[in-house]
Amino acid sequence: MDKKIEELKKKKAKTKLGGGKERIKKQHDKGKLTARERIELLVDEGSFDEIDMFVKHRARAFGLNKQHFPGDGVVTGLALIDGRPVVLYSQDFTVFGGSLSETNAEKILKIMEIALKNGMPIIGLNDSGGARIQEGVASLGGYAEIFLQNTLASGVVPQISAIMGPCAGGAVYSPAITDFIFMVKNTSHMFVTGPNVVKTVTHEKVSFEDLGGADTHATKSGVAHFTSENEIETLLNIRKLLSYLPSNFMDRPKDLSFDFSKLERDEKLNKIIPEQSTKPYDMKGVISCLVDDEDFFEVHSRYAQNIIVGFSRIGGMSLGIVANQPMVLAGVLDIDASIKGARFVRFCDAFNIPLLVLEDVPGFLPGTAQEWGGIIKHGAKLLYAFCEATVPKVTVIIRKAYGGAYDVMNSKHIRSDFNFAWPSAEIAVMGPKGAVEIIFKKDIAKAKNPKAVLEKRTEEYKEKFANPYIAAERGFIDDVIEPAETKIKLIKSFKMLKNKVDKNPKKKHGNIPL
Ligand code: HXC
Repeated sequence: MDKKIEELKKKKAKTKLGGGKERIKKQHDKGKLTARERIELLVDEGSFDEIDMFVKHRARAFGLNKQHFPGDGVVTGLALIDGRPVVLYSQDFTVFGGSLSETNAEKILKIMEIALKNGMPIIGLNDSGGARIQEGVASLGGYAEIFLQNTLASGVVPQISAIMGPCAGGAVYSPAITDFIFMVKNTSHMFVTGPNVVKTVTHEKVSFEDLGGADTHATKSGVAHFTSENEIETLLNIRKLLSYLPSNFMDRPKDLSFDFSKLERDEKLNKIIPEQSTKPYDMKGVISCLVDDEDFFEVHSRYAQNIIVGFSRIGGMSLGIVANQPMVLAGVLDIDASIKGARFVRFCDAFNIPLLVLEDVPGFLPGTAQEWGGIIKHGAKLLYAFCEATVPKVTVIIRKAYGGAYDVMNSKHIRSDFNFAWPSAEIAVMGPKGAVEIIFKKDIAKAKNPKAVLEKRTEEYKEKFANPYIAAERGFIDDVIEPAETKIKLIKSFKMLKNKVDKNPKKKHGNIPL
C-alpha cells in the first residue's frame, strides 16, 4: 500500500505542475498567477477539493497523442467561500494555452451540473487561447455545451466570470451569459475578433488593450462589471460580491448582525442636497449616509455613470441599490443607463435581493442619437425589469421625479411596496420651465413682457406641482419624510417586507424588449 500511496502522491504532484516549471515561470513573468494559485487565493484556506485531475484529452491529430498533461488545461472542483460551497473552474494557461478541448469542456460541464443540482454559485477563472485548435469541431461542441449550461443555470445559481488572460472568439460568450464579469487591468483581454482580423476587415489599427482591455470594457462597452489593478484584488472582490448574494434562487442573502441601539437620525442628510434644485450633488454621498459602515459595493462603476447600481447592507440586510446620479448628465436616463439598471434589477429579482431606489431624475435624454439608438426599447427594459420584479421594493424620491422616468423608477404604480419622498421632491409631468412654455404658449406670445410672464407662471407652477404633496394626496407617495430619518424608515420597511410574497402570471417566459 505504501508504494501505491507514494505513486498517488507523485502523480498528484506532477498534475499540480500543469504545463511544467518553465511555462509557470513564463506565466509569472507576465505578471499572472497560475490556475491553482488563483484558486488558493479565492477560496477559504484548505477548502478546495479538486476533481478530475487525472483527466486526459483523447485527441490524436497534430501530434497531440504524444502530449499529455493530466487535468488537460483546466482545474475544476468544489470549495468554500466564507463557509459557503461553490464550484469553480480555473483555466490553466500553462497547458496548451488553457485552450478548451473536448475533455476540458466535459470537466467544466461536470461541475456545472453539480452546481445546478445542489444550488451552488459557479465561478469561472478564464485564461485561455480559446478553442483547442488541434481538436477542431470537438472543441467547438464543448463550448456550445457550456453556453447551454450557462443559459440553463441563469437565474438558478449566481454565475461569476473573471477574465485573467486572453478570452477571444466565441469563448467570450460563456462569460457574457454569466451574471458578472471581472477583468484585470493590462493582463486580460476580451474580443470576438482580435486586432489583426479587425485590421484586415475594417482597416482599423487598434491595440489589444484598446480593443478589448479591462478599461475599454469597463467604460465603453459595459461588458465588464468590475475591473481591478491586479489578480489578487480581483479574487478578493469576487469574495466580496458573493457576500451579498444567496447561493441560489431559492435561498436568501445572509443577514449580518446590526446594532440597532446605535441607529439614530442622521442630521447630515437634512443638509446634503443643494437649496437650488438645478444644482448637482453627489448621490454617492446620500448612499454613504444610508448604508451600514458607508460600505457600498458598486457594480459597473465606470459605465453609464448617470445611474448608480450596486450592493450594500442596511440594518444588516443585503440590498441592491439603484440610484440616479445628478452629478453626471443631471441623472438623466439614457440608453446605457437603462440597460445597466435593467440588468441589475433583474439579477436582484432573480436572487431574492430587495431593491432600494434613490430617485432624482429629470427624465429621459432627448436627441436623435438616443431616439435613433432605440431609447424607446432600451428605456422599456428598465421599466419592464422594475414591473416584473417581485422582491421587496422601496423608493425614496430625493428630488426630481419627472415624466416617464417617474413611472419607470419603481413608482407605486408598478408594484413598489413603499414610496417615500423628501420634502425637496418635485413630482410632475415635466420640469417647470418646459411645462409653462407649453401650457402658457399663447399668453407668453401675446405678452408685452414675455420673460416676466414666463417667470411668474414658472413660479406658480413650481409652487403648485414641484413638490411631493400632490402625489402624497393621492397615495402615490406613502409618506413625506425628513431626510434625517430615512435610514430608520428604510430599515423598518425592509424588515416588514421580509416575508413578502408576490407573483407574476403563469407563463413560459416574458418577452423583455431586447
Ligand atoms: C491550442 C494553443 C491555443 C489554442 C495557445 N496555444 N492557444 N494551443 N489551441 N487555441 C498554445 C500555444 O501553442 C503555446 O504552446 C501555448 O499555448 C502558449 O501560447 P503562446 O502563443 O506562446 O502565448 P502568448 O504569446 O501569450 O499568446 C497567447 C495567445 C496566442 C494570444 C492566446 O496563443 C493565440 O493567439 N492563440 C490562438 C488564439 C486563437 O485564435 N484561438 C482560437 C480562437 S477561435 P506551447 O506548447 O508553446 O507552450 C475560438 C472559437 C471558439 O476560440 C468558438 C466557440 C463557439
